Parts: sequence; C-alpha cells; structure tokens
Amino acid sequence: MDLSSRYMGLALKNPIVASSSPLTGTLDGIRQIEDAGAAAIILPSLFQEEIEAEEARHDHLTGAHDESWPEARTNFPTLPDAARGPHRYLDLVRRASEMTAIPVIASLNGVTAEGWTDYARSIEQAGAQGLELNIYFIPTDITLDGRAVEQRYLDAVRAVRAAVAIPVAVKLSPYFSAVGHIALELERNGADALVLFNRFYQPDLDIVGLKVLTDLHLSEPHEIRLPLLWLAVLSGRVKLSLAAATGVTTSDEVVKYLLAGADAVMTTSALLRHGPGHVGVLLEGLAHWLDTREFASIDMARGIMSQSRLHEPRAFERANYVKILQGYGH
Ligand SMILES: Cc1cc2nc3c(=O)[nH]c(=O)nc-3n(C[C@H](O)[C@H](O)[C@H](O)COP(=O)(O)O)c2cc1C
Repeated sequence: MDLSSRYMGLALKNPIVASSSPLTGTLDGIRQIEDAGAAAIILPSLFQEEIEAEEARHDHLTGAHDESWPEARTNFPTLPDAARGPHRYLDLVRRASEMTAIPVIASLNGVTAEGWTDYARSIEQAGAQGLELNIYFIPTDITLDGRAVEQRYLDAVRAVRAAVAIPVAVKLSPYFSAVGHIALELERNGADALVLFNRFYQPDLDIVGLKVLTDLHLSEPHEIRLPLLWLAVLSGRVKLSLAAATGVTTSDEVVKYLLAGADAVMTTSALLRHGPGHVGVLLEGLAHWLDTREFASIDMARGIMSQSRLHEPRAFERANYVKILQGYGH
C-alpha cells in the first residue's frame, strides 16, 4: 500500500501530520510522534508578541529608545524571560530538525506583515523544512473592511515569501466572504499551501461571575464539516497544496478529508487525548479502508469526492441546502 503524499513541495511518507501543540514543542514529544509514524511535524507557534517582547528587552538592555519609550524601563521586569521566546524557539527548530528524519515545519503566529521576516529567515537557517503562518487576526475594529483584512494576509505572505526559500503555508481563517478568492490571491502572492482552517477559540461567558471565559475545548469529529466543504470546493482548482486541520478523531475523518482532496491531514486534539501513539491507529484505519476499497495508493482516492470530480457538484451548493431544509422531518 502506497500511503505517500506531497504537501507544500515536501515528500511525505503518509498524509498524517502532527499540527502545532505543546506535544510538538518538546524533543521527547516530537520523537514519540515520529516513532508513531507521523509524516511531518508542525512546531508550536512563535508568537509575534514574543518577538516584540524580545526586541523591547534588547532595546532596554542596549539603552535604545529609552527617551522615546520611557515605559520600556517600567515594563522590563514583566517581559518574558529570555529562556522563552525567539532564541529558545530557534534552538527547538535546530534540534528537532537534526533529530528527526521527517520534515519539521515551524510556525509563526501574528497579525501584521512587519516583524516576521527576520525570524522567518532565522527559522530557515535553523533547519526548518517549511514555515506555517498563522495569522490569527480578529477584526474587532468594525470600521475595517474585508479588503483591508485580506490585504493584511497578502502583505504578510509576500514579506515572508521574499525572505525565505522554504515552502510557506498559511493556516487560514474560515471567516472570509470569498474563501476561494483569498486562496487564489494567497497563491499569487507566494503561498505554497493552505491549512483549512485555523480553529478560533471563541469565548464563553460566566453568567455567575460575569467574566469572559477563555477555556479551551479539544475538537470533535463534527467540526470537520466546514473544512471538508472548502477542501472539496478548492481541490483541483488551486495549485496550492491543501491540508485539513480540524476534528480528526478516527481514521474515518482522515478518509473523508482525503476524498475531499486533502494532501495532508493534521491532528492535535486526538493526540492530546490519546497520546502520540494514536497516529498509528489513524494510519492503520486509513490503510485498512484503502485496502477494502482496493485502492493501491492515496493518490487513487484523493479528491475523488471533490466538487470538480463529483457527478453531482451541486451537492456542495445552495440547491442541496434548500433540499436539506425542505426535506427535514420527511
Ligand atoms: C493546547 C493547544 C495548543 C495549540 N497551539 C497552537 C500553536 O501554537 N499554533 C497554532 O497554529 N495552532 C495551535 N493549536 C491549534 C492546533 O494546531 C490545531 O489547529 C487545532 O487544535 C485543530 O486541530 P484538532 O481538531 O486536530 O485539534 C493548538 C491547539 C491546542 C489544543
């Protein structure tokens, strides 16, 4: 059985990739994930805030901007320890890349085009084989229009693309009015892959303490439906590689994502719940399904249920929605 795939120009021995999480942030975790059979690893993100804090620390130590930014002095004790942040991150990239035989992809997480490029270059020099950009931007300024939000993504991708030669992926928000168009624009601006989707952590309210809650729930299998829709729509229509990134729990979700057109299928919650060894369970189930269907390779199954290859492409469109609503209860 040939499980191999290609994602953002990288050869993968199978489509299962461990997405960013605390599990991929230690050499021990990375080793366990690799041993379990994952084809690639995305390191946890280096956050723009960590980069900025390090720059503030550097400016303080060197005395730069002391007059123009006096609060730097008072802020200094609360800045993150140098043991966290960019230096430690580059060390993780270096050691993980040296230690593993599978691709190590680093992740930069921020909101603006500035401030990433130097680190993108350092990450490349440290040995990362790819870079994922997580532009976690929530446009709470309600005067900002959609075009400005899109431009932010495109500027960030263009800046990073100009700085590095390694492949660049964008972990995309699902909240665009035209997901297909932003995919094409990101492709035009140099992205090699799209990760569908970034899982936004929506707040809850505590109605007793009247506080905003920021608890984190691991994902559930029903959450695959939104990425599944857009994978199916984009597959075969863009040159970018496509990764599915939410809700994988069993090999059923892996199979569905491949049928819709995913080149790589990412997982975090399932590994946090069941441990890194769960990668082996996913791979076994995938191989079994392919075997039962007499598919000799991943390539034979990938995208056969994408919109462009389906006999009934309208299954992904409004017509089906109307049918579903009108058929309820019959
Ligand atoms: C504890 C935790 C930490 C995470 N850290 C990051 C991160 O640093 N950068 C990032 O892009 N995504 C991060 N994620 C998101 C995951 O990479 C993944 O996209 C998300 O959990 C959806 O995948 P899943 O349904 O398989 O869990 C994190 C998720 C969890 C649960």
